Amino acid sequence: MIFLKELDRKNLFEVIKMHDTLTEYQKKCVAPNVVSIAQAYVNPQAWPRVIYHDDEIIGFVMISTHDDDIPKEDQPSYYLWRFMIKKDAQNLGYGKQVLDMIIQKAKDEHQKFLYTSCEMEGPMPYQFYISYGFIDTGINDGEQILKLNLN
Ligand SMILES: CC(C)(COP(=O)(O)OP(=O)(O)OC[C@H]1O[C@@H](n2cnc3c(N)ncnc32)[C@H](O)[C@@H]1OP(=O)(O)O)[C@@H](O)C(=O)NCCC(=O)NCCS
Repeated sequence: MIFLKELDRKNLFEVIKMHDTLTEYQKKCVAPNVVSIAQAYVNPQAWPRVIYHDDEIIGFVMISTHDDDIPKEDQPSYYLWRFMIKKDAQNLGYGKQVLDMIIQKAKDEHQKFLYTSCEMEGPMPYQFYISYGFIDTGINDGEQILKLNLN
């Protein structure tokens, strides 16, 4: 069973260390968790959560409940700022389940879209998002901007 829990003194260091499990390419795709946690501290709209599979910590996800980079006509929308599953828990369907949970939260809170952006040097994570249903906005600001319609 997949759960999302808040950061606390007990899980903090394991979450920080999880970044080390990623491949060199994957490390280019997502900022170190320690950086994301620091950003969450100074951004009140950040919603960081630790991903658990039963009692095991398997990943980290952070959305922003508001982002000025999202065009006015698409507001209100959430931005998926950070998302990672540790290496030995990847490709087991957990990432997809976490997206399902984030999307449910966004729908419950009447959001129009879930935005994200991704590195384009390799097929992942772009293929992961596109096969889930995200569309490519065609905009690249260093990373390709994708969005999922929640209606
Ligand atoms: C992207 C990430 C979060 C996905 O999580 P995951 O738990 O591994 O994903 P899932 O097991 O739920 O896989 C979901 C789908 O991606 C597909 N997929 C996996 N690897 C793939 C690849 N190399 N090419 C195409 N599709 C791929 C799977 O087939 C699956 O689709 P299916 O259910 O239709 O078969 C995870 O791989 C990760 O942490 N990557 C490193 C960090 C990163 O890139 N984060 C994203 C930042 S934008």
